[in-house]
Amino acid sequence: MSGLTTAHAAKGLEGVVATTSSICYIDGDRGVLAYRGIDIHELADRSSFEETCYLLWYGRLPTRDELRELTARLAEERRLDASIYQYMRSLPKDALPMDMLRTVVSALSFFDPEERKNDHEANLHKAIRLTSQIAMIVASYDRIRKGKAVVDPDRSLSHAANFLLMLNGERPSKTAERALDIALILHADHELNASTFAARVTAATLSDMHSAITSAIGCLKGPLHGGANEAVFNIFEAIDRSGSDPVAYVKAMLAQKKRIPGFGHRVYHTEDPRATHLRQMSRDLGRSSGQPKWFEYSQAIEEFIKADKKLNANVDFYSASTYRTLGIDVDLFTPVFAVSRISGWTAHVIEQLDDNRLIRPRADYTGPSYPNRYIPLEAR
Ligand SMILES: CC(C)(COP(=O)(O)OP(=O)(O)OC[C@H]1O[C@@H](n2cnc3c(N)ncnc32)[C@H](O)[C@@H]1OP(=O)(O)O)[C@@H](O)C(=O)NCCC(=O)NCCS
Repeated sequence: MSGLTTAHAAKGLEGVVATTSSICYIDGDRGVLAYRGIDIHELADRSSFEETCYLLWYGRLPTRDELRELTARLAEERRLDASIYQYMRSLPKDALPMDMLRTVVSALSFFDPEERKNDHEANLHKAIRLTSQIAMIVASYDRIRKGKAVVDPDRSLSHAANFLLMLNGERPSKTAERALDIALILHADHELNASTFAARVTAATLSDMHSAITSAIGCLKGPLHGGANEAVFNIFEAIDRSGSDPVAYVKAMLAQKKRIPGFGHRVYHTEDPRATHLRQMSRDLGRSSGQPKWFEYSQAIEEFIKADKKLNANVDFYSASTYRTLGIDVDLFTPVFAVSRISGWTAHVIEQLDDNRLIRPRADYTGPSYPNRYIPLEAR
């Protein structure tokens, strides 16, 4: 092993292959995304979030019995220790849901029956548990901060339907359930995105699943990553409030050298395949709910940014209007991303630990040359 570095760093590690993985395949030039080789379009059309979880965690599609068993396990794990609810109630009422989630997920480890175990089986159990718990936490916290009663989970419902029930206090329509289910499938994994990388780096120190997921949630929050979906809708609301024309509004942002959230991608040089589905969902939900405005804003902005900046919409652009039309508050959009991405994060942590080596890259040092003299304080 050499202590010498050999190459200059690509800024933002662009194009750097940092690990091997058999979970997610992306072809950024052709706009292909596949989980375990299965195209995301096929999964969005034919699968469910529960089945997608199985695929990510176990590496293949489940049999009917295996799917039934995992669905039952996810439903069984819909429970939280009373002190988690108590803790959520003790938070400042204006605590951001994403900050709440980061801290509460960290606290979940104290109540995990396998807290001290870090083997493959225990981590699969934690993956199932965390997937159920995170959805409950996001929904329950929203009710707590609004002074509403927490809704008990319904173990007969799908993951998506139970989340909407616990959030809105009523069973969702089949259309809303399926829309969220598809959104959860589309967000479930995305290779070595920033939060997944953070999770793998944490796991590789032989820390633990909850620490890895806490790292990932902190990372997802940023507006260059998962936080972009909230930033998109904040723009729609600002357009609405000011009565501006959507195109004029984003033109003004560009003139101020601002980035337009929901556009551009490090890996895709063509349409983000997830955006294709979310655009359709945003259009359909907008029409069926009688709220076509958000889709219309989105469409006008997309057309302009595509023509003017040659940038494509990414996953966050149309998820914003989709989530809003499902009755989800804007500051829950990124937590809802986590409700889905927990499946991919945990799959990556398990994969990392199955063949682990500490992740410890080097920096291309650009500071004062060595040796730099230490000047005593009195001589400075
Ligand atoms: C996703 C993102 C961080 C990728 O960044 P990146 O790979 O580092 O790309 P770069 O920052 O090198 O951008 C390349 C060029 O496109 C421009 N660009 C990229 N995304 C842009 C956006 N959303 N709005 C305006 N310009 C954008 C950059 O200004 C840069 O132009 P320049 O070369 O003239 O300076 C970036 O596209 C972005 O900030 N998007 C908005 C946030 C977002 O939607 N994030 C969610 C991603 S799924």
